[in-house]
Amino acid sequence: MSFYPSEVIDDIRSGNDIVDVVGEFVKLKRSGSSYVGLCPFHNEKTPSFHVNQEGQFYHCFGCGAGGNVIGFIMEHENLSFGDAVKYLADRINYTLPEVSFTKDAQQKRELRQKLYDIHKIAARFYYDRLMSDEGRTAVEYLDKREVSIGARRKFGLGYSPIAKGALYNRLKEAGFDDDTIIKSGLVYKRSDNTFYDKFFNRLMFPIIDVYGNIIGFGGRILGDGQPKYLNSPETDIFNKSKNLYNLNLAKQARAGELILVEGYMDAIAIYQAGFKNVVASLGTAFNENHSKVMKAYADSVILLFDSDDAGVKAVMRAIPVLKGAGLKVKVLQVVDAKDPDEYIKKFGANAFGELLNKAKSHILFRAEQIQKQFDLNNIEDRIDFSKEIAKLMSEVDSTIEVDAYLKEVSRLTQIDVSAIRSEIDKLNNGVREIKNINRRTNTNKKGIDGAREDIINIVMANRRYYDIISQYLKPEELLEPFYIKILEIIYSLYSKDKAVDTQSVLDCIETPEEQRKFTAIFVKRIKFNEDEIIKAINDIVKNIKNSYYDKLISDDYTNPNISQLIENKRKANNLYISLSDG
Ligand code: CTP
Ligand code: MN
Repeated sequence: MSFYPSEVIDDIRSGNDIVDVVGEFVKLKRSGSSYVGLCPFHNEKTPSFHVNQEGQFYHCFGCGAGGNVIGFIMEHENLSFGDAVKYLADRINYTLPEVSFTKDAQQKRELRQKLYDIHKIAARFYYDRLMSDEGRTAVEYLDKREVSIGARRKFGLGYSPIAKGALYNRLKEAGFDDDTIIKSGLVYKRSDNTFYDKFFNRLMFPIIDVYGNIIGFGGRILGDGQPKYLNSPETDIFNKSKNLYNLNLAKQARAGELILVEGYMDAIAIYQAGFKNVVASLGTAFNENHSKVMKAYADSVILLFDSDDAGVKAVMRAIPVLKGAGLKVKVLQVVDAKDPDEYIKKFGANAFGELLNKAKSHILFRAEQIQKQFDLNNIEDRIDFSKEIAKLMSEVDSTIEVDAYLKEVSRLTQIDVSAIRSEIDKLNNGVREIKNINRRTNTNKKGIDGAREDIINIVMANRRYYDIISQYLKPEELLEPFYIKILEIIYSLYSKDKAVDTQSVLDCIETPEEQRKFTAIFVKRIKFNEDEIIKAINDIVKNIKNSYYDKLISDDYTNPNISQLIENKRKANNLYISLSDG
């Protein structure tokens, strides 16, 4: 995966002590052998984020985040592995060697560079057309929409002319070949082999990534008509589910809070009114990637969608996605205007600033939406309403907050706080019962995963255990691809006489997701003494082998080797591993 030789990665890691690096983002306090602080990956009030200096890894007991210093930078700064290495190299003034790319990777890189260049030229071209006579109607339109001259420049707005091959000709003139031009998504090829521009006679909004590259365009029709907007298709440089309009400028505001709106025009109007921390989703459904990107730059979000039904629906869908990324979510609706842009036009920037202060917790917003579904004059509806509110409150951790919300709900609905409370109590009892059932049925699965994790920890702890266990246990017997992979890594490190510790294993794991899973296993290790260990190894290995054979047997009853499998299972159960075996 990585393009750098492992010695370079070692240098980067050993030069960047994890406590120092994490300490630049998180306030850490020493506590015993580790450092603790508030987790940067989820919202918490009491610290469960641990940084282990000796092992050079971090782990959050709250949300399960974890990994080494490179993984931390990848997650926290939302960077690729290569970029995280660059970041850490910069930090210690380390000169990285020239990376060697495979031929494929090299070609991809060159293509992407060309696509960036094409977009830069296209943006310049559209901007020039806007400034020329041709752009007069577009300028009039911008005047009418009260987009300032400064904002036009800041957002690089442009105009795509009526002539349908104008951009194509400009790009040919700049020396690009037809293939590359088509890959930009800005030009299409007709069946008669002629070329035409995707955008013509539209107001052009360049879409810019966080690094400042132009990666696509949105094009608005001048005035009424369909479709109102056209957008660039996904290309090698434009991923709609990761990019947000104006994030490049919004992140510079370093506000800790982002305002999320629906439209290009809303984002521009809000920015122009002096609130730079605004981003817009790009006409696609808001998703987990978007929220992860936002979490890299902010801790909280104000959802400010249009005041129509579609806007409310979009808000309801976005809330859990944003919460899932650990963002604090507030909701705001404009009143007496269809969208934020119109609100600012009507009432001005100051009024908009005051409105922002009125953003309310997503919980209250949802309570209001629930209320709309019921006729609170009807007694049965009042009960059902209270039940729904009780469910909603089960999401709130703090009892103080629950109290505050209930008071507010009670004020709005004239339903007694005590009536809703009794529903909450009923619900809590129900939940407790379900949890008990789950606990009873889950022990088996937990048990076997626990056994797999224990054996990983035991093998890692001591080469002697590896020597013995590896004679009896094959990685594939762990069944789960992730555990198999980890045990393979550990076996392979030992067999090459390499050091086996958290670091060396983490180095072999590419994705932050898997680094996190591995760190979570490692922190769960238990210390066995010599007397206990041999019994533990026997129990665990037996346990693992039993589920392995059970799986093989139940997967395929018609397997002619089934009697062999049953025999193997029997042998596994009679197995006795002793420490002198190695
Ligand atoms: N959108 C789109 N295609 C459409 C309509 C909308 O991609 N046919 C996307 C655009 O990103 C647009 C956003 O959805 O900015 C919100 O739509 P809308 O509220 O209609 O657009 P505004 O940006 O508010 O534009 P305007 O105020 O000029 O109507
Ligand atoms: Mn609008």
